[in-house]
Amino acid sequence: MRPDPAPTAQTPHIGNEPQSAHFVVREATVADAPAIAAIGRVGFRAVHDDVIGPAVAAELVDQTYSIAALTECITRCAKAEDAEFLIAESDGNVLGYLHYDCEGSEPELHRIYVDVERKRAGIGSALMRELHARLTPGSSYVLLVVEANTEARAFYERRGMTVERRLDGPSYFSSAMGLDLDSLPQADALLMRFTKNSDERPQS
Ligand SMILES: CC(C)(COP(=O)(O)OP(=O)(O)OC[C@H]1O[C@@H](n2cnc3c(N)ncnc32)[C@H](O)[C@@H]1OP(=O)(O)O)[C@@H](O)C(=O)NCCC(=O)NCCS
Repeated sequence: MRPDPAPTAQTPHIGNEPQSAHFVVREATVADAPAIAAIGRVGFRAVHDDVIGPAVAAELVDQTYSIAALTECITRCAKAEDAEFLIAESDGNVLGYLHYDCEGSEPELHRIYVDVERKRAGIGSALMRELHARLTPGSSYVLLVVEANTEARAFYERRGMTVERRLDGPSYFSSAMGLDLDSLPQADALLMRFTKNSDERPQS
């Protein structure tokens, strides 16, 4: 996280046509936790209920999207030099968010979710651009995506992420997020990696 960050205004484009919707990407504050929870609770279950079952998905959501858990996570990211909890916002409404930190064995993009009603409007791309602008050239991070989430896989691949290895998603996720769960189903997942070009200048 950077001191004194300036929000980045974004104008989504289709081809060369700028769209009318405007939003800014900025660091999350604890006041954003309820809006982030509202997006995450729906978004996580939309892509994971069929993969791990609704009961386990609901339990994971309860542990990772409670206001207390989000408040703690946003606060930790705000204090750390090498963590980012970013949101996209328009007229006071949170449209999507991204959570990245370096607390595990490797830097990791833990979550990127856009309001299900606002997908394919450039919000995910803008969040990713802002994260990448903040990373040091040559730095690298991993992310986990379930194999069945073809939409997100394609999104990542088109942004330069490559598949590093296959693994069991729920056990990796549970450990990476520090969760406490009795039993977990297995689900094929991919660990993908992004590396920022070492000749790329940090953007402001
Ligand atoms: C994956 C996800 C974060 C992407 O966010 P998004 O806001 O939908 O992504 P964008 O709109 O920036 O880009 C998606 C595509 O829409 C296109 N697009 C962008 N603006 C557009 C517009 N106004 N109209 C039509 N298409 C548009 C982009 O070009 C992009 O296509 P590309 O990948 O071929 O370049 C989002 O779909 C999401 O929340 N998915 C569910 C949660 C999830 O799976 N998260 C990852 C868990 S590992």
